[in-house]
Amino acid sequence: MKRKMGFLIVLAAALLLLVPSLTAGGQKDDGSLTVGFAQIKEDSPWRTTETNSVQQEAERLGIELKLSVTEQAGQIAALRDFIAQGVDGILLAPQTRSGWDEVLQEAKDAGIPVVMLDRGVDAPESLWVTQISSDFAYEGRVAGNWVAEKLNGKGKVAELFGDPAADPAILRSEGFMEVMASFPDIEVVESKTGEWSQDKGRQVVEAWLAAGVKFDVIYAHNDGMALGAIDALKAAGMDPGDDVLIISVDAIKAAFEAMERGDMNATVECSPLLGPLGFEAIMKTIDGKPVDKYIINPDGLYDLDNYKDHPTMGF
Ligand code: AHR
Repeated sequence: MKRKMGFLIVLAAALLLLVPSLTAGGQKDDGSLTVGFAQIKEDSPWRTTETNSVQQEAERLGIELKLSVTEQAGQIAALRDFIAQGVDGILLAPQTRSGWDEVLQEAKDAGIPVVMLDRGVDAPESLWVTQISSDFAYEGRVAGNWVAEKLNGKGKVAELFGDPAADPAILRSEGFMEVMASFPDIEVVESKTGEWSQDKGRQVVEAWLAAGVKFDVIYAHNDGMALGAIDALKAAGMDPGDDVLIISVDAIKAAFEAMERGDMNATVECSPLLGPLGFEAIMKTIDGKPVDKYIINPDGLYDLDNYKDHPTMGF
């Protein structure tokens, strides 16, 4: 009897020791968490603001953050590194929509929840926890309706595309074209990638102007490229915001400043302040609580009439 009791005590002690390691990933005994963030390497104020939002929230919550900023191949390597280090959760801003299945399966096999931050992927929903982003097709439709109204249903539009492999660029174009389909007298005369970058956006518009392309509106998939377009139009002696109307997406502070100068006409909001929602999703998952599959930010359109109403006057 005594031997049996002794065995039971040893077994109970062993189970108690096991409990902390069953909680999640590499969660430490003191309950503190480590989270990896695979951010996209992209030179834009929007992305810097998003990185800051994640860093600030990690600091506020006392979470150890492992930050990696690279292009897609590097992001996959970063995820593998996070998995090897046994992080408790991963925030992923996926540069492209495709190419994630294998590494997401590896994270799932390791029991590490992955949250899609700011963009979606085409990997099975079972491999990731939630997508926290804007509704990009909606943003495209908002821009499309604005253009149709300003042109009174007739005119020429040039589209500055983001990265053609990226979820927001694909959907912003689809949403925009959906609206254009109802306006046969609006012609989309050009559509070319400016790779989300101000400099590339400028170069693309310079090339259009040099080739004699005529357009009434430029629709840019982000404010950075719109600012590049403004540079190109000014360099060609044109008056952006007047000779050519400019609408884009993001609502960064520089876009509002361009509106104040009369260079830009409108921007559709896309919030980069995603850190709090990202960590909340990871912590809920670790605690076994349900998380919505899609957490979509409500976005508004800002132009000269209402940009001062924006809660942070741009991101
Ligand atoms: O995924 C969000 C988009 O990505 C932002 O609109 C853009 O600026 C960034 O490149």
